[in-house]
Amino acid sequence: MNQPYMPGHVDPILAAGDEPACNTSPNAYFGEVLEARMSRRSLLRGSLAAAVAGAMATSLPFGRALAAGTGTAAPSIGFRAVPVGTTDSVVVPEGYRAQTFIPWGTPISGNMPAPSLDASGEDQAHQVGSHHDGMHFFPLEDSSRDGLLVLNHEYVEPRFLHAAARGLALDSDGFPQHEDGSRDPDQVRKELNAHGVSVVRVRHAEDGRWQVVEDERNRRVTGLTPMRLAGPVAGTEHVVTQYSPDGSMTRGTLNNCANGVTPWNTYLAAEENWAGYFANEDTEIDRRQARYGIQTRSEGRYQWHRAEGGGDEFIRFDASARGASPREDYRNEPHAFGYMVEIDPYAPESTPVKRTHLGRFAHEGVVFAPAAEGQPVVCYSGDDARFEYIYKFVSARPYRAADADGSLLDEGTLYVARFNDDGSGEWLALAPGENGLTPENGFADLADILVNTRSAADHVGATRMDRPEWGAVDPVTGQVYFTLTNNSRRREGQVDAANPRAGNHFGHIIRWQEDGTHAAARFRWDIFLLAGDRESGRGLNGEPLDRDAILACPDGLWIDPDRRVWIQTDISESVVNQGDHEVFGNNQMLVANPDTGELKRFLTGPIGQEITGIAMTPDQRTLFVNVQHPGATTPAEAFAAGEPTSHWPDGGNALPRSATLVITREDGGIIGT
Ligand code: FEO
Ligand code: CA
Ligand code: CA
Repeated sequence: MNQPYMPGHVDPILAAGDEPACNTSPNAYFGEVLEARMSRRSLLRGSLAAAVAGAMATSLPFGRALAAGTGTAAPSIGFRAVPVGTTDSVVVPEGYRAQTFIPWGTPISGNMPAPSLDASGEDQAHQVGSHHDGMHFFPLEDSSRDGLLVLNHEYVEPRFLHAAARGLALDSDGFPQHEDGSRDPDQVRKELNAHGVSVVRVRHAEDGRWQVVEDERNRRVTGLTPMRLAGPVAGTEHVVTQYSPDGSMTRGTLNNCANGVTPWNTYLAAEENWAGYFANEDTEIDRRQARYGIQTRSEGRYQWHRAEGGGDEFIRFDASARGASPREDYRNEPHAFGYMVEIDPYAPESTPVKRTHLGRFAHEGVVFAPAAEGQPVVCYSGDDARFEYIYKFVSARPYRAADADGSLLDEGTLYVARFNDDGSGEWLALAPGENGLTPENGFADLADILVNTRSAADHVGATRMDRPEWGAVDPVTGQVYFTLTNNSRRREGQVDAANPRAGNHFGHIIRWQEDGTHAAARFRWDIFLLAGDRESGRGLNGEPLDRDAILACPDGLWIDPDRRVWIQTDISESVVNQGDHEVFGNNQMLVANPDTGELKRFLTGPIGQEITGIAMTPDQRTLFVNVQHPGATTPAEAFAAGEPTSHWPDGGNALPRSATLVITREDGGIIGT
């Protein structure tokens, strides 16, 4: 089945910014949805039982707990839920503490430049970036008190970065610029360096607080860092540029939303809404850019290509064909974005690698199935835009702990998911000659398929989802969960069983069980949760959500070693605390029991932010969580008047800053129990 590209499918610049707005249109009641769901539930249970029995019989990879013989016991969720929050503060349950940590601008390397609006673009390359997102704690010597905290910086609000922005009427997307539209190059450098990834050594100090430790591994990877391309797209004509005539290299990673951790203990940063950063004045734009939201336009998100002086690292954000050949301009620069980027946090000199075989799209993140010796490596990734898809990669070579590395991600098969209405599902291979992906149908070879991942998925008839965000894998059952944050544009005639609500402005969570190992070609699926208020939300057993459990726009998702399902919300700043969304208050984090569906609010954040990014120490006694874009709700006039809606975390008259929370229990116990 061919699903042609529909213009208007993606908002070109705005959605390429960060979060397309939740829609506020009323939502129909969904009795049939629930009925269908209950019948799929019994199918999924049957398939889960078979899978677990199979895993026990054949030692297939369903995680440490089964191997340890602890069975599938449901985790305890022992704290008292916190109420919906509307204040400019972080609230955690009684008996818990939250320390604010490494806000934007915290020095980590070089001459340790102090945080300041006056700090230079070069200073920013030695400071924690902005808009904290996906995150992981890499222990040093297996310690739960000393490790490398690695986190993404999704984007920036230039008004909160530059002294020159003071007093200007700038909204969340605004930036200082000259009258002719050009930009100060050091501001541009600072914005590029405030993107990317931070690697920071952190340690639990004597007084119980966590602190940054100066360390040779501390590092910023930014929008300017040289990166290697690997996998089938590397070295092809798709990615040759003036900077890299052989198509082997590019510069920087952008809009890093969620993350992943490989079985060989490296970090993967996702490139999500990268398309908006590019201008392209060509009158004809092919699917390699058009299908990703780049259309004919002279503007990019922050106008980086208009930096004064025309530095090569800036003009590359203009993808117009200006030279005599692709080796003399940056028409191909956008083809080097939209990937998962591998970073080895333990090797500060290593070059980050873009793993092209995992597909090119608006990667929200990636989650790996538990690796098993001698079995393929399997990982899952969602494409976060309205009506986009969920993908799975299966490596060609088997995993062997002794010598596993990122090259395992360079050979294999990328699949895309089809969710059938009867609760079955299948993985459709995006490979030459498979499912109609032939030269006659416009797919020349594997590199062409991968650089055009979205078009290939259209061609094979994948299921168009309600904005796939984070995924998580249950360490015991192997069930895979994905958040579908919302999709205001789905109309009545477009609903299907996996995306059952028209005008889906509150989102849902889907889960599936592979038929056998994670490399299987088929699966059974069900809906775990319909997010919403007390009328429209439904828990695992079809029951309405109570006041301790209501939520909208699930985004961040993680399952801890005891199987607690942690859910973080991202109601867009354009609707948070307004209209139908008012009842949910500020963005929050909840915990669910995967077996009973019990759901409890654990944390609420300050004004204007989203909660995103989650990591735990191996002893489960320290939890790291990110607070992104506090104060993003500040109108332009209020910014000009020095009155942001949030002063978190510094208080007083301070501008808001994204930061990490370090959450512990007063009694030192395991988080969540
Ligand atoms: Fe960056 Fe899809 O959230
Ligand atoms: Ca997100
Ligand atoms: Ca989101």
